[in-house]
Amino acid sequence: MKAGIAREALDGERRVAATPETVKQLVGLGLAVEVESGAGLASGHSDDDYRSAGASVVGSLDLGSLDVYCHVRPMDPTTAGALRRGAVTVGLGSPSSELPTVRALAVGGITSFALELVPRISRAQSMDALTSQALVAGYRCVLEAAMRLPRFFPLYMTAAGTIPPARVLVLGAGVAGLQAIGTAKRLGARVSANDIRPASADEVASMGGTFIKLDLETAEASGGYARELSADRGALQRALLTPHVAQADVLITTAAVPGRRAPLLVSREMVQGMKPGAVVVDLAAESGGNVEGSIPGQDISIPTGDDQGTVTLVGMKDVASAMPADASRLYAKNVANLLALMTRDGVVSPDFEDDVVAGTCLTHEGAVRHAPTAEALAALAGETAPFGSIQPGTEGVR
Ligand code: NAI
Repeated sequence: MKAGIAREALDGERRVAATPETVKQLVGLGLAVEVESGAGLASGHSDDDYRSAGASVVGSLDLGSLDVYCHVRPMDPTTAGALRRGAVTVGLGSPSSELPTVRALAVGGITSFALELVPRISRAQSMDALTSQALVAGYRCVLEAAMRLPRFFPLYMTAAGTIPPARVLVLGAGVAGLQAIGTAKRLGARVSANDIRPASADEVASMGGTFIKLDLETAEASGGYARELSADRGALQRALLTPHVAQADVLITTAAVPGRRAPLLVSREMVQGMKPGAVVVDLAAESGGNVEGSIPGQDISIPTGDDQGTVTLVGMKDVASAMPADASRLYAKNVANLLALMTRDGVVSPDFEDDVVAGTCLTHEGAVRHAPTAEALAALAGETAPFGSIQPGTEGVR
């Protein structure tokens, strides 16, 4: 079977779905691998590196000839429509926002796997691209804050005086938040954090942070994810967080609730109550923002309430893509490991009895298997029945 590796089309996307290392893995599975010329350049891999690993390099992929198509960003409907019936695709699908592509995949009879749907179970960890890319994002957002902060992170005791450590507050202690805590600790900051999942207090402590316990009930849904707070609980959380935000030199927000707009944790007044020179990094800017007024890809200066200076509000965008070498190294392993799970003797043949395979599959034989996506498509089309047939037991949480 022939697997194609896309050169990402989206402007600014610098990751790639296979590295020379994972090409070797795919070739070892018995697949013939074709890589689009230049696909790995931004991640540090030349066409020759791919050839040495056993791939052939082509000017552009002949999509209709591929059995397997590997990508990073969600495909557009045209790409989905150019694949042959029965082809297998592996990559990020953003099913809730890319409904036209999902429809094209279903209509085209493509067996598509969306890495966002990988079940959060131990066996699937090596295929979990949300986790691997969140690790990159959590690390990176601390560096972005450090570069903008007009002071040190660590404590310094020098002949010229003592400099106290910066105070870093992290809101949302999932995968990215925990990485942010660890990175800020390694830089020497005094780190505290808050999350609404009950398990998060121990997780924050294990990374060296101090957990801020608010007088607010925890909110956990199925699969270990957070539940959305009601409007009044959200307002109470903001009120309780206000004094902690005011003390922080750096505020990093990473909170998310699957399938929902990011929760608003920090109002403009809370930002205005921070110290002059403080930095706020909103990792959730692209999904609605945890901080009022954040704009993806932009720095905004907000005057402090006492008019003594400004706070820099950074809206993060395409974070993992900003570190394409290691983001691709991890992402490509996620892709290859999922393919390895489905490949025997050079043939990719998904076994839907396997809960990782079944849970990750977005479309198969004309049906949308992910229930929330099928329902969203049906609602979009004004259909009474969901688009395609939903397989039982595939209702993902994302
Ligand atoms: P996420 O990206 O959906 O959300 C980030 C964080 O925001 C979560 O910790 C969530 O509790 C928090 N949050 C949501 N609303 C909030 C609010 N109002 N205030 C403060 N915090 C709020 O979550 P992520 O990082 O994908 O992880 C979710 C869960 O999945 C965690 O329990 C994590 O440990 C678990 N997980 C399990 C894996 C596995 O077993 N294979 C792999 C990765 C994560």
